[in-house]
Amino acid sequence: MTHASHALHHSHPDRAKHGQAPEHHAELEEVLDLDARLGASVLSQAMDDAVQALATEPREIVDLGAGTGTGTVALAHRFGRARVHSIDASVGMLDRVREAAREAGVAERVQPHLADLDGEWTADLPDGIDMAWAALSLHHVEDPPRLLRQLFESLRPGGVLVVIEMTGETSYEPADLGTRRARLGNRIVDTLAARGYPVTADWTDALTSAGFAPVRRRETSVTASTETRDGSRYLEVQLAFNRALLAEGMDSDDLDAVDEVITQLGGGYSPLAVASGRVIWVAVRPDVAA
Ligand SMILES: C[S@@+](CC[C@H](N)C(=O)[O-])C[C@H]1O[C@@H](n2cnc3c(N)ncnc32)[C@H](O)[C@@H]1O
Repeated sequence: MTHASHALHHSHPDRAKHGQAPEHHAELEEVLDLDARLGASVLSQAMDDAVQALATEPREIVDLGAGTGTGTVALAHRFGRARVHSIDASVGMLDRVREAAREAGVAERVQPHLADLDGEWTADLPDGIDMAWAALSLHHVEDPPRLLRQLFESLRPGGVLVVIEMTGETSYEPADLGTRRARLGNRIVDTLAARGYPVTADWTDALTSAGFAPVRRRETSVTASTETRDGSRYLEVQLAFNRALLAEGMDSDDLDAVDEVITQLGGGYSPLAVASGRVIWVAVRPDVAA
């Protein structure tokens, strides 16, 4: 997901802060779907890193906070003999997971679980999980160290946990978004950052404290550009959705310029791109026998 999407991903900041699941949300779903396509290379990279860390092909995978099923489907495709347990606290999101799995032809290997990651979510899972996957979800929970300890116990020795988050690095090209308002992109990023978006988190110490070793960290990025229909729609939806937040901190000339960009994006004549940083952790539950 690009960073400008953070307000969509955390459209209920208080709830996100307190670890409760956002409700079924049409805009969030559209952005998650666009993210799925625009951020496919990040997921591939994360899966490559996980494969490197795993000694054998995963058979039991857990997708924590599965959302619309982006990770679930990517994991089921990549690991053709694995069962993917998709956990989410939102009924609406789990419906989307089922639909995505059906459309992708992997439904028989996808097991949706309605569960709260702040509760006893491990109850219905098999013992000895090979891989756990937490994309843009770990920061939602109330007590991440507790969840990490539960994950450590759920994984088999040698199993891996993959965590993906945003880094907070965002840059627009051109920096004025084609408006002649110099550095408008920087002011958009700064205005949102001053309101807590995107939510970023660094889990290296928490993963290490939970007992994972090694803990590998890699930075990468996602680009959305008006050169593709998805990229264009993504930029438009994000700016439109974030506009209310931008209005809290930008002057009227900047806001007018943002509106102009949204109109241009809708009309298909804005040459714009945004690059947004992601971080991938691959953390191993040490195999004592190894
Ligand atoms: C930003 S979305 C990420 C979705 C997906 N992993 C992706 O990368 O596209 C976060 C998801 O975590 C879920 N979630 C948040 N808090 C949760 C909790 N305490 N228990 C279970 N799911 C939760 C939300 O319902 C939402 O679907």
